[in-house]
Order: sequence, then structure tokens, then C-alpha cells
Amino acid sequence: MRKLIIANWKSNPQSITEAIKLAKASDTRNVVIAPPYPYLEKLGGVLRHASLSSQNVFWEDGGSYTGEVSPSQLKNLKVTYAIIGHSERRRLGETDEIINKKVKTALTRGLKVILCVGENSKVRRRGALASQRYVANQLKKDLSGIKKQEMGSRNLIIAYEPVWAIGTGKADKPGDATAIISSMRRELLLKYGSLGGSRVKFLYGGSLNAKNAFQFLSREGIDGALVGGASLNPKVFKAIIKARDSL
Ligand code: PGA
Repeated sequence: MRKLIIANWKSNPQSITEAIKLAKASDTRNVVIAPPYPYLEKLGGVLRHASLSSQNVFWEDGGSYTGEVSPSQLKNLKVTYAIIGHSERRRLGETDEIINKKVKTALTRGLKVILCVGENSKVRRRGALASQRYVANQLKKDLSGIKKQEMGSRNLIIAYEPVWAIGTGKADKPGDATAIISSMRRELLLKYGSLGGSRVKFLYGGSLNAKNAFQFLSREGIDGALVGGASLNPKVFKAIIKARDSL
């Protein structure tokens, strides 16, 4: 099984014409594209190989919630994945409690969840153990009440994205990221047993680019990457996919 590369376009590009162009250039197997909501439907008709993800999702399946998008609305547009708990959303006020509700509903409605966790620079300065504790605590809250069967359904992907590495050009050291990911894997194995914990995929995200992609993707403990800025440049994104395919 090829490692997974997820393109998080964030609030880019600004027109559907550019979005189609970008999507066509990134349309490869085992690639997931997460464009802004308004482009999902159109891109669903354009992509032949890559899958689609939303960058967010609401925790209720419809009702009086102005501005929110429900899991079923996404499923009906052939969206397979939903990114939940990205640090840019946490910064806007999304709490672990909200994230937990979103994860639960999305999984119940059959969306695959890409749950983002990661510590800020203040925590990392306190050392690896502090970072491990921080993400373990996020996972505990974000996955609260999720059953073993759901964990074992292969529908949960966890992206380790140190906040200080996102969009800064300063990626984590592959060894450090791998150690933190291993600590999360151990936690899940302890809590959910081998049928639950071992089926969860772990990705790295944060300033991944054409130069460092191979160093991260060649690590056994890293099952793929969540790519922001570099996914907006077709040349760079193709180089990342090439690094993945060379494994
Ligand atoms: P970046 O973003 O690759 O631009 O650092 C990653 C992300 O926010 O998912």
C-alpha cells in the first residue's frame, strides 16, 4: 500500500478555473485533495485518480446552523475524507470538545477522518516528553467515546502537525516527528488493542517540501504526509509524489 499524500489547499486558489488546473496537475492515486468547500462538487467531476477531502465539517447532520456544512452533504458530493481539528481552526476557537463531536459524527456518517494534532513552540521547547504528553492529551480528548470498532475501521487518520512547523519553512526533524508519532501509536495500542490501535494511519505535516519529503516518507512509522503550501505549486507537489512513489 502506497503512503498517502494529502493536499490541504486552505483558502486557495481564488477561482474555480485555477482550482481545476491545480486539481488536474495533482490527480494521482493515493493522493487526497482538500480544496475549499465551493470547489468540491466541480472537482469531484474532474478528478479521476485522487480522492476528495473537506477541510472541516459540522457535527450535526443538518438543521438550523447557518454557515455550517453537514457530513451527509459532503458524502453526497462524493467527498471521502474530512480534515478535523487543523491548528488553524483551533486558533480560531475550535476546542477539543468541538473536535470530538465532529470526529464522532463524521465517522458515524462514513467519512474518513484526518484528525490533526500538534504542540506549539512553547511546549516543544520543554522537550520531547512534554510534546508527547501534549499530543496524548489532545488525542484523549478528541477521541473520547470513540469505540474500538470505529478505531479498527481504518477510517481514522491522525496527522501530527507541530504548530510551529506549519507554514514556517521549518519542518520538524524526521527523527523527532517519528518518535512523537510512535508514542501516539503506543497510546492507541494500549487503549484500543491491536485491532483498534494498529489500524490507524499516522501522517506528518508542517513545511513538507520537495527537498525533505523523502526523509519523512521513507520512515517506517510515518504513513504519509499532509501538505499545505507546497501542494499549491504543481511542480513541487509532483516532486513530493515522486519521492513517495520512489519508496
Ligand atoms: P504547510 O501546511 O505544509 O504549509 O506547512 C501544512 C498544513 O497546514 O497542513
